[in-house]
Amino acid sequence: MESSRLVTVLLQNFSIFFLFTCVVKARPYTNVFNVLKYGAVADGKTDCSKAFWTAWTDACAWNGGGTVLIPKGNYLVGPTTFKGPCKGPIDFQIQGVVNAPSDLSKFKDYSYDWIRFQYVNGLYVGGGGTFHGHGSSAWSHNDCNKNKNCRFLPISIRFDFINYGTVEGIYSVDSKSFHINIFNCNNMKFNYITITAPEDSPNTDGIHIGDSSFISISHSNIGTGDDCISFGAGSNNIHVTNVTCGPGHGISVGSLGKIPKEGNVVGLIVRNCTFIGTSNGVRIKTWGTSNTNFVYNITFEDIFMNNVYNPIFIDQEYCPNSSCNDQTPSKVLIKDVHYRNIWGTSSSKVAVNFVCSRSLPCQKIEVKDIYLPYNGNDGQASANCLNVRGYTVGKQLPKIRL
Ligand SMILES: *[C@@H]1O[C@H](CO)[C@@H](O)[C@H](O)[C@H]1NC(C)=O
Ligand SMILES: *[C@@H]1O[C@H](CO)[C@@H](O)[C@H](O)[C@H]1NC(C)=O
Ligand SMILES: *[C@@H]1O[C@H](CO)[C@@H](O)[C@H](O)[C@H]1NC(C)=O
Ligand SMILES: *[C@@H]1O[C@H](CO)[C@@H](O)[C@H](O)[C@H]1NC(C)=O
Repeated sequence: MESSRLVTVLLQNFSIFFLFTCVVKARPYTNVFNVLKYGAVADGKTDCSKAFWTAWTDACAWNGGGTVLIPKGNYLVGPTTFKGPCKGPIDFQIQGVVNAPSDLSKFKDYSYDWIRFQYVNGLYVGGGGTFHGHGSSAWSHNDCNKNKNCRFLPISIRFDFINYGTVEGIYSVDSKSFHINIFNCNNMKFNYITITAPEDSPNTDGIHIGDSSFISISHSNIGTGDDCISFGAGSNNIHVTNVTCGPGHGISVGSLGKIPKEGNVVGLIVRNCTFIGTSNGVRIKTWGTSNTNFVYNITFEDIFMNNVYNPIFIDQEYCPNSSCNDQTPSKVLIKDVHYRNIWGTSSSKVAVNFVCSRSLPCQKIEVKDIYLPYNGNDGQASANCLNVRGYTVGKQLPKIRL
């Protein structure tokens, strides 16, 4: 090839390359919907609900999908539903702090959970920002176990009917009730999430999953007053890795069996997680009712328990208040549960507590390589095994007889 022609060819290719990268780079900026352009005021006092909702509506209607941008700053936003279906995937970029109203009268009933994402195929929520639930105004109203006319307390962030979603690098602080609720979602990833609420804040569960499949949660830090992550009825194919829990009530399957005809909990892996000072580590809880259900194919593996009260716990007589009849043996069958390589310290003497159902004993429970000494000086760790069928492999402290 003649050298001048070579140069021409190269230049042509370069210009095509540059043109291409410019087009690719420039494109996202045409479909960015900045809440400030919709009248949001980042002063933390002006109600920005309408601006947020309108920015979402325009992003959702944009062919090929859009970005909702919440720049740095403080925003006050009331209960808002970000609803699809949309004309493409949506990128919800939260860089600022979105604050819930403290005033409970803004949340009348369950349709007033705070931030709700619904019916979207392809949703990304990221940007390093914060959802602040301002729950301290609500926690004293958490009295439904005593008060029939108790107030409704909203969940901070709901994902309902989302397919293919990623939620990454965001913060959720001081929810009034649960922090994050996942309902009827498939194929969602939660990475680098930080969730915090005080240890004594009631019902501030970190992430609750129900009727959903192919959900993964990883590289996250969750410290609240209730469950770190809980798997309700209909959770299947769920992976939890590299999550640190504490304070709070640990990772929990259930509670199940309270309501008839619930979905099963199947195919759950919790791996490489750390629990710090939680009341439970890995727990499965079912109510003593005649409602039937299955829990199977569950693995808890490579888990460090630092000063945990009930590190390994199956509770089939779960009854948080005296309202239930704990004389009824649970009809939820727990089968194929694997506890492998779990170590650290137990802050109670019963480091392993299997209280399975009298009428449906737990089956195929594997306990492999556990080391959970009691960290008090008035005794030693022990295991309590009621109605369990299974096997042990490798080292066990405490000694387990199944
Ligand atoms: C008992 O506790 C459960 C779970 O906290 C609650 O849903 C239920 O309403 C309580 N029932 C009564 C009668 O207190
Ligand atoms: C956990 O995190 C570490 C460090 O970021 C990473 O190397 C490892 O692959 C992760 N493990 C799992 C099971 O995700
Ligand atoms: C487990 O997680 C820790 C961080 O929490 C990380 O440093 C380590 O590499 C992870 N190991 C595996 C096997 O994933
Ligand atoms: C058990 O669950 C895991 C995690 O969801 C899944 O990968 C695996 O295929 C399941 N095993 C069986 C035998 O169903």
